[in-house]
This record gives sequence, C-alpha cells and structure tokens, in this order.
Amino acid sequence: MKLVEIHFESIGSTNTYAKEHVGSFSPDQVTCITADEQTAGRGRFQRKWYSPKGVNLYVTFCFRLPKNALHLISLSQMMAASFASVLLDEGLHPKIKWPNDIRLNGKKLSGILCETSFHGEWVDVFLGIGVNVNMGTADLARIDQPATSLQAETGRSWDRAALLKKIQKKILHDLDLFKSKGFEPFHSLFENLLAFKGEIVSCSDGKRTWVGTCHSITNDGQLNIYSSDKSMHTVLSGEISK
Ligand code: BTN
Repeated sequence: MKLVEIHFESIGSTNTYAKEHVGSFSPDQVTCITADEQTAGRGRFQRKWYSPKGVNLYVTFCFRLPKNALHLISLSQMMAASFASVLLDEGLHPKIKWPNDIRLNGKKLSGILCETSFHGEWVDVFLGIGVNVNMGTADLARIDQPATSLQAETGRSWDRAALLKKIQKKILHDLDLFKSKGFEPFHSLFENLLAFKGEIVSCSDGKRTWVGTCHSITNDGQLNIYSSDKSMHTVLSGEISK
C-alpha cells in the first residue's frame, strides 16, 4: 500500500488528529502522521504520553481494514513485533511486555496506542507509537515508570528521520502480511521476546486481575497466564505488573 505522510511541528496528539481527519484520507493508502512534539499525547488507559519537542518519535499509522479481518484484536501486538524487529536489526535486545510495550534493559522505550472506529463493513485503524529516541535523563525522570531512550541505552544520538523511515518500511511490509495471514507470522518473534516469560505476574483487564506465570501467547496475540490452581487464563486485553 502507498504511504502518505503528514508532519506537524506541534500537535495535540497524532492519534487524535488522525481520528478527526480520517474522512479526508484515501482509504487505499496508509496515512502516517508524525509530530515533533505533542501537547496532549495520549497513552493507554487514559494516561498521558509525555511528548517533549524534537527528541522522540510520535507517529500514527492510519488505514482501513475489513471489519472481519483476521486477528484484528492483535494489531497492536503486530506493531510491537514489527518495531521490535527494527530494533533487533539495529543490534539491540528488546523485550515486549504484553500487549505492546517495548522495553530495553527492563525499562520502557516505546508504547503503542491502537484505536479503532467501526463503520459498516470496514474499520478505520489508528495505530500510534511513541518512541523515546534522544530523550535525556532529566526528561526520562519525569515519566511515572522506569523509562529509557535509545540514546540513554546506546550512548549516542540517533537520527530520528532515518529510524522513522525504517519503521515505516517495516510496517508497510508487515501490514500486508497481517492482512493475508493475521498475527500468525508474528507469533514466534513476539513469544521469543516476551518480557517476564516464566515469571509470576499479575495481569489486570480493569475489571479482573489474574495472578500466575506469564506463560505464552496464543496464535491471535492473547496472553496465557498459568495460575497456581493449574488452570490457564487467556487474557484478551489488559496490563501486566510484576
Ligand atoms: C502507552 O504506552 O500507553 C501508549 C503510548 C502511545 C503514544 C503514542 S505517541 C503517538 C500517538 N499519539 C498519541 O497521542 N499517542 C500515541
């Protein structure tokens, strides 16, 4: 699919912009909205995404899929696997904290916010990713959980535009794969990089919490938690904590 880029020096949120303007995007293309800063960056569970100017990547990929597309629930896991594989190509050692946080050395490097809007036979997808690229230690300390950046991990400054190109290329390729085969082609990479695998975690979907071993990933990207009562719980969406 063709990629069309829209860039802002400053915007509230690239995901919000995409949702508000999707009507003007061609349904046959992937629209990629980027910004140098976000003044109202959003994370999962109504959290804020700290988005200072000129140091990181704030990107939303917007595209249309059929509403019955295979494994639609695992789009954000696919994006996590795609970005993790870009990092592997850079010689880094990422882990994926289910469903879609990318971590380096036990700290959060990147988060993904996948939003959808259903219309009759199709769904508009807003797949947003924030990557801490050249964020320094003072800014990282402002984040409410252990966080890191590529610069903090590697001791060098990264070319944000070059990294963006690599992510765009990978996503375009992987989206085609996802459309024809769903999550299956991404499953083994995701499970190999699964953070906390084999460790006791608690996982909450906002209503219920499961405690058990972080066991495995289903073929459509859900998390299997193995409880001490020897039962397996499959969690569709939620958040892990240790
Ligand atoms: C999370 O880990 O909670 C998800 C964070 C997602 C942040 C990205 S930055 C680009 C896009 N625009 C937003 O407002 N959020 C996503």
